[in-house]
Amino acid sequence: MPGHEFIPVCEPLLAGKEMEYVTEALRTGWISSSGRFVAEFEKKFAEYCGVEFAVTTNTGTSALHVACVAAGIGKGDEVIIPTFTMIATAFAVCYCNGIPVFVDCDRETWNIDVRKIEEKMTPRTKAILPVHIYGHPCDMDPIVELAKEYNLIIIEDAAEVHGAEYKGRKCGSLGDMGCFSFFANKVITSGEGGMVVTNKEDLYNRCRYYRNLAFPLDSTRSYIHEHIGFNYRMSNVIAAIGLAQTEKADEYVERRRGNARLYNDRLLSIKGITTQQEKDWAKSVYWMYSILIEDEFGMSRDEVMVKLMEKGIDSRSFFVPMHMQPSLKGYGCDCSGDYPVSEKISRKGIYLPSGSGLRKEQIDYICESLIRLKG
Ligand SMILES: Cc1ncc(COP(=O)(O)O)c(C=O)c1O
Repeated sequence: MPGHEFIPVCEPLLAGKEMEYVTEALRTGWISSSGRFVAEFEKKFAEYCGVEFAVTTNTGTSALHVACVAAGIGKGDEVIIPTFTMIATAFAVCYCNGIPVFVDCDRETWNIDVRKIEEKMTPRTKAILPVHIYGHPCDMDPIVELAKEYNLIIIEDAAEVHGAEYKGRKCGSLGDMGCFSFFANKVITSGEGGMVVTNKEDLYNRCRYYRNLAFPLDSTRSYIHEHIGFNYRMSNVIAAIGLAQTEKADEYVERRRGNARLYNDRLLSIKGITTQQEKDWAKSVYWMYSILIEDEFGMSRDEVMVKLMEKGIDSRSFFVPMHMQPSLKGYGCDCSGDYPVSEKISRKGIYLPSGSGLRKEQIDYICESLIRLKG
């Protein structure tokens, strides 16, 4: 590649009205959590997800926390999560004094293995918190069935799947609540930010209430707080970016899917490289184009990452499973048991550059560099 430009693993693409909207927020002085962009971002994103209600928060982590609080998760309540996820999923449960209970992931989609959920349930199980990992939806029907049978709440961790679909319905709209992150590397970003989406008005109101320090929702400023709440409000400046991004959501999803097609064309036939498999019931948004470096590749995952970096290509290793986290062991989670799939993919996985603005010649260069490593 001419000049060997550095290719970051993910750069935000700010190709819409971000500048115009942010400037309006600044010019008009609406820079805190009041102002038109917060409400418009919530409305537009709810429509995009096909749900009635949405509540902005300041991060994806706080969206998960406030959803757990709204769901009534409290001391000793068990919440089933995949062990293969980002740490925020588990921490959100811990913030409520709940207990994350781990399930291994499926070897093809890398999402929670739905066949292994029921064996982890106890009378204390209160919720299932499936995570749609790296842009690919979980198999939600069996999860919904279990939740009905055992009267459990479903909170989807949709931090990585803006626009992804399960059987034609958007991720985030498939359980009781869906939680998104708008961190800078996400398909839609506001720099930092989060959102809870739901069709249930009572949960919507509870999220709004706890997000804003448990101020009464009727906005009487009595300064009497019946519950402990949190200040997780999003500012109008941040929402201005989020709204502009949401207006481009379909385009960015298609760009991510286009990138994945280009990668697949070059990499699927390479011995020693495997990828997350898009199921026929799924529309993945390929938040991160992710591969496993198998033994047949002839080089370890870590060596591959070093060699790619020498060529100016950034990559990231996969999450470390929750049952291997000292923080969660220390908290008292049961980290015993076998999680062979999660441990394997965590050891072998990397994601390649995946930003919506990636160009074909960059993907060609990345693939050629990777293929050459194999010798
Ligand atoms: C699966 C998952 N859950 C939660 C989060 C937390 O989101 P945030 O970084 O916005 O707090 C992330 C962030 O990357 C994530 O990937």
